[in-house]
Amino acid sequence: MKFYYSPASPFVRKCMLVAHERDLTSKLELVTVSTTVVAPDPKLAEVNPLKRIPALVTDDGALLVDSRVICAYLDTLHDGKRLIPRSGPKRFEVMTLEAIADGIADSAVNNRYETALRPAEKQWKEWSDGQMGKITSALDYLESQGTRSLGREPHLGSLALGSALGYLDFRYPDWNWRRGRPKLKRWFEKLCERPSFVATDPNKN
Ligand code: BEZ
Repeated sequence: MKFYYSPASPFVRKCMLVAHERDLTSKLELVTVSTTVVAPDPKLAEVNPLKRIPALVTDDGALLVDSRVICAYLDTLHDGKRLIPRSGPKRFEVMTLEAIADGIADSAVNNRYETALRPAEKQWKEWSDGQMGKITSALDYLESQGTRSLGREPHLGSLALGSALGYLDFRYPDWNWRRGRPKLKRWFEKLCERPSFVATDPNKN
């Protein structure tokens, strides 16, 4: 399978975390792309009409996008414990956590584009503040829920959240998301010790 990727993307990292956690990395042929909305990578544009990463082309030639679909697909390729529970309330709890984590990552990436790529005279501060406000309220919500539902063994929701928090550390090193959130801080510290997180750390890739 060909996996179109850039190690900086939190959505790519989420997929790679799934692959590492379930021993699937040898099945992925990594195709590194360097892409933005204004300068899409031609290699990527050839396979994904949305010109976005991550994208997966299976051995049968099927295109899979986006990261949620790719993770759900990878989760069918192993015999271990499913990262997305098959049924019951836990299934929707995990999927909702993934959606909240992806929302955090989405706001963080959008704001990164705004502040790092957009010419300074065109930047819109209120829009940036709004994106960071979404991240703040999502993190406060998660802290208020406690970390018990994040589980001792990772599931797709906790991997997605770990990836989003890792992206905040990577691109917003001076924005201390840990302040006032001791439960998330402790939980994330432990998560980062896992080999899957060490192997996909965007600072080292
Ligand atoms: C980044 O460099 O922050 C980035 C790269 C690709 C996708 C998302 C974010």
